Amino acid sequence: MEVSPNAYRPHRYLLPALLLPVLLLALAGCGDPAAPAAGGAGTGGAGDSGGAGESAPATPELEPHPDFTMTQAELEALTANAPRAARAAVAEKPQYFLELAAQLLALPSVQLRLVDKDHALPADAVPDDLVVLDRYADVLTLNRSGLSLRAALIPDLLAMVEAARQDGILLPISSTYRSYEYQAGLFERHVENLGEEQAARVSARPGTSQHQLGTALDFGSITLEFADTAAGEWLAAHARDYGFSMSYPDGYEELTGYSYEPWHFRWIGRTATGMETAFFDGLQQHMLEFWNEHEAELRRKLK
Ligand code: DAL
Ligand code: ZN
Repeated sequence: MEVSPNAYRPHRYLLPALLLPVLLLALAGCGDPAAPAAGGAGTGGAGDSGGAGESAPATPELEPHPDFTMTQAELEALTANAPRAARAAVAEKPQYFLELAAQLLALPSVQLRLVDKDHALPADAVPDDLVVLDRYADVLTLNRSGLSLRAALIPDLLAMVEAARQDGILLPISSTYRSYEYQAGLFERHVENLGEEQAARVSARPGTSQHQLGTALDFGSITLEFADTAAGEWLAAHARDYGFSMSYPDGYEELTGYSYEPWHFRWIGRTATGMETAFFDGLQQHMLEFWNEHEAELRRKLK
């Protein structure tokens, strides 16, 4: 193959065009005594104490957040087994990650408790702040009476329902807190109707349902059609802004253990949905698994 003799000859305008930004950057740097040297660590002051002319070291001894005794290297080690996208996001925004982590550590642990097929609640675990939603019947759309949820999430629920109402949308609530015994009966009915294998794809065995936490809700028809209703679309787009996270999204049965449930949301709080969105691709399961594994270590590193 013949290579054109012009192939490597810079265009006569190309070289000046390439040099101009370099020149401008150099000039801008001259006027700013605080500007870090090219190639230096740009994220903080510590670690810049090497002799003049030495290339700046990588930044393992930098502590990205003032509330934690945790170096950048330790944070990288902490996230080593996290999903790749989460690792990359934490490496890119370490201070934001630790800021959210500090706030999450201040919450009651149960708010982020992992409850799934491998992490069950005791049969006698009952939230101690359940409130019956009939109290709010004038603002909530309740598909039946006697539904209850933890008091902790009521402010976010009311704010979300009000925001939806302002957009002209009602969010009918169909199922909320379920006791261990209630869930046992429900799962049994699914087994009778579908057989055990299919039942386990759509219904949790007693002890393993998020509904036992008192922070999970099912909206609307509890069918796949709900995804295409105004309420389903609104929730998919906005629930996270109020601290509610879709637990079983489409295409993640292998991860969550359950087929798509566009109607099922778990309240984890706004800081946690912020963490889920910024660092875990919006996947509640990934975030809660990470938190379950690393909460204690992060707590030990708090100053
Ligand atoms: N349908 C969900 C998985 C439950 O039973 O909790
Ligand atoms: Zn549900």
